[in-house]
Amino acid sequence: MKVLIVGGGGREHAIAWKVAQSPLVDKIYCAPGNAGIEEVAECVPIGAMEFDKLVDFAREKEIDLTVVGMDDPLIGGIVDKFKAAGLRVFGPDKAAARIEGSKAFSKDLMKKYGIPTANYLNVTSAEEAYAFLETAKMPIVLKASGPALGKGVLICNTLEEAKAGVKEIMEDKKFGDSGNTMVIEEFMTGREVSALCFCDGKTIKPMTSAQDHKRAKDGDQGLNTGGMGTFSPSPFYTKEVDAYCMEHIYKPTVAAMQSEGCPFVGVLFVGLMLTQDGPKVLEYNCRFGDPETQVVLPRMKNDIVEVFEACIDGTLDQVDLQFADNAAVCVVLASDGYPVKYEKGFVIDGLDRFKGNDQYFCFHAGTKKTPEGIVTNGGRVLGVTALGSNLVEARSNAYKATDWIQFKNKYMRHDIGKAIDEA
Ligand code: AMP
Ligand code: GLY
Repeated sequence: MKVLIVGGGGREHAIAWKVAQSPLVDKIYCAPGNAGIEEVAECVPIGAMEFDKLVDFAREKEIDLTVVGMDDPLIGGIVDKFKAAGLRVFGPDKAAARIEGSKAFSKDLMKKYGIPTANYLNVTSAEEAYAFLETAKMPIVLKASGPALGKGVLICNTLEEAKAGVKEIMEDKKFGDSGNTMVIEEFMTGREVSALCFCDGKTIKPMTSAQDHKRAKDGDQGLNTGGMGTFSPSPFYTKEVDAYCMEHIYKPTVAAMQSEGCPFVGVLFVGLMLTQDGPKVLEYNCRFGDPETQVVLPRMKNDIVEVFEACIDGTLDQVDLQFADNAAVCVVLASDGYPVKYEKGFVIDGLDRFKGNDQYFCFHAGTKKTPEGIVTNGGRVLGVTALGSNLVEARSNAYKATDWIQFKNKYMRHDIGKAIDEA
């Protein structure tokens, strides 16, 4: 069969690499893809938001299955377009993607169906927000309700900071219309875990757990980024935690979406915080996580195409989802200065060392092919992932492999997975 993958980051490289292992697949296209994805797929220069062009392409090439990796096209309704054209597509439709696209929607959903999450208030005017904050307990969390490239969350320690945050989100419109509605949320503490779950609308099956490191600098300092590294599994996500989440979070969420008339088909990413009062939902995303996917998929034993098909066909209950009893660590190699200001266009050396390796992987995030070779083309450049029999070994392998790659202004965190020492 022919598969089209929509997106062009490290997540889509990991998905394309995994799809390429399926004996069911003869040909993979990726739009727009990147220099690494080109090793396993034919990249086509169509943007992820160019829905009509993507539909035309899928028809013309007789694509059997389209997999959408990114949030923006899912929130924008790409799945509805493909379905209307009679094309098979993996991902939630526009109504279901609201679970990520509108934090106000997801908070109200959790409240209505008793799913554990932080207490909150949705506000639609700055006056309302200021009035509430006067008597609120600090720290407090402010979230632009709409999509904000992962940057729309402010943790405020004082009333002054909170007021400045309301101004930024609701008055100055730093995140545009995404800040028309804002969620004011209770601050929670605990370990964070990412649970990526396959869903077919009625059944939900979590993949193995992972943890992201969102801050730019060692020791969780610096600005929030798209993710500087991940490890899988999370030693804090025990069998008991998994059973609790299944009962109180995963199943109720899928049932809630069904009851609301927008069944969720695709990957539901549940961002959890393991608090003293039990696991609670921090956020939902409507797609695979990045860079979580880069540690989760190398550990997955199933043919991913079969799982995608089962989700679309509503037969996920018949799939025995299996992950290897090992561990993986991914260290993101970024351009120095990310996420604020950085240079691009530097030649990357050492990529060949990963070719054909089944323990070490180099997933491309921001790279470009040029006559001089493959060059840096983004803030996050590569995700170096290594497997190991346990987390300590996987971490040591991943850091060893980061030395194989050289480019000007290479930057990485040195403490990815350090939390596992405390487990
Ligand atoms: P989100 O985009 O909702 O995942 O938020 C980004 C990050 O902000 C999360 O990964 C947490 O580290 C932090 N965060 C979000 N909501 C809360 C909360 N209610 N309490 C504490 N930290 C939070
Ligand atoms: N790693 C967090 C995300 O994909 O949103």
